[in-house]
Amino acid sequence: MIVQIEGLRKVYPGKQSVVAVDGIDLMVNAGELYGLLGPNGAGKTTTISICTTRALPTTGRVRIAGVDVVASPALARRSIGVVPQYNTLDRSCTVAENIHFHCLYFGFSAEAARVRTAELLEQFHLTERASAQPAQLSGGLAQRVQIARAIAHRPKVLFLDEPSAGLDPQSRIAMWDAVRGLRHEGITVVLTTHYMEEADELCDRVAIIDHGRILVEDSPAALKNSIGAGTIYELELKTPPSDGGATDALICEVGALQGVTGVERTATGVRVYAQSADGLLPEIVRTAHPFGLRDLAITEPTLETVFIRLTGRDLRE
Ligand SMILES: Nc1ncnc2c1ncn2[C@@H]1O[C@H](COP(=O)(O)OP(=O)(O)OP(=O)(O)O)[C@@H](O)[C@H]1O
Ligand SMILES: [Mg+2]
Repeated sequence: MIVQIEGLRKVYPGKQSVVAVDGIDLMVNAGELYGLLGPNGAGKTTTISICTTRALPTTGRVRIAGVDVVASPALARRSIGVVPQYNTLDRSCTVAENIHFHCLYFGFSAEAARVRTAELLEQFHLTERASAQPAQLSGGLAQRVQIARAIAHRPKVLFLDEPSAGLDPQSRIAMWDAVRGLRHEGITVVLTTHYMEEADELCDRVAIIDHGRILVEDSPAALKNSIGAGTIYELELKTPPSDGGATDALICEVGALQGVTGVERTATGVRVYAQSADGLLPEIVRTAHPFGLRDLAITEPTLETVFIRLTGRDLRE
């Protein structure tokens, strides 16, 4: 177990104190790619900040490679690489210098730092940009420099806080490839995200967190299976559903169809969960038509569906 978080709580004091982390327990295995998926304010950055010695817990304990981060922060930092939520490249240095100085800070000789910097520039396809200033880089390149710098001292665990926030889709995919590559080096990765595709694509295991607590934790496939539905029908109604009345009747009638495992109200209509798609579509259309069916979309469960099922809310709300 390379990351051990036990009973972690963080309360930010103040007139109205904020419970940012409310009792988190989690274990990450060596070599794993682990994701914390949750909406804004869920407590992801606070959790990462404590793990990386940037904030102190109110109660609870974090050990990285067996080292307690509160008792021995300097020792723990040797095993930790961090890419924070916001760009922290030194804007007065070049790309290469950013990596080089990081190596020196971690006790490399000037020669060893030079060799390691060249190696990382190569690995992250940054050699051509070695003498560029961070301000000249696109978001995707800057993020790659941040990752290269974060692993320069060969940490055991890399923490990535919202690694693809603000990246265009192409840069996001390049970043995913870079992160997957770290697996071959035996680096354990803990990342936070509020993009369910990112958690799904990249992570071996995902903890869905909300209001400072872990709601569920498992592989993306197991989490999606937990919905108990292979197919989801999103029905859009001509008049948005109000409480009670016609929508209740629709929910009741659709819910009674063979193979339907759940029905819920949405902002624009109702969502129907079903075991499989086999032959159900015409039945649903026939049932919903008298209620003013305007449109219908068929999807498969995603981690977003899991989150909605658990909280009644959208990840983006
Ligand atoms: N320094 C601070 N002082 C007071 N409250 C804070 C502080 N930092 C965070 N919070 C509060 O703690 C809660 C959790 O914040 P945190 O930044 O950990 O969430 P997050 O999951 O990283 O959110 P985001 O997706 O927006 O990055 C929020 O309610 C936030 O407003
Ligand atoms: Mg955050």
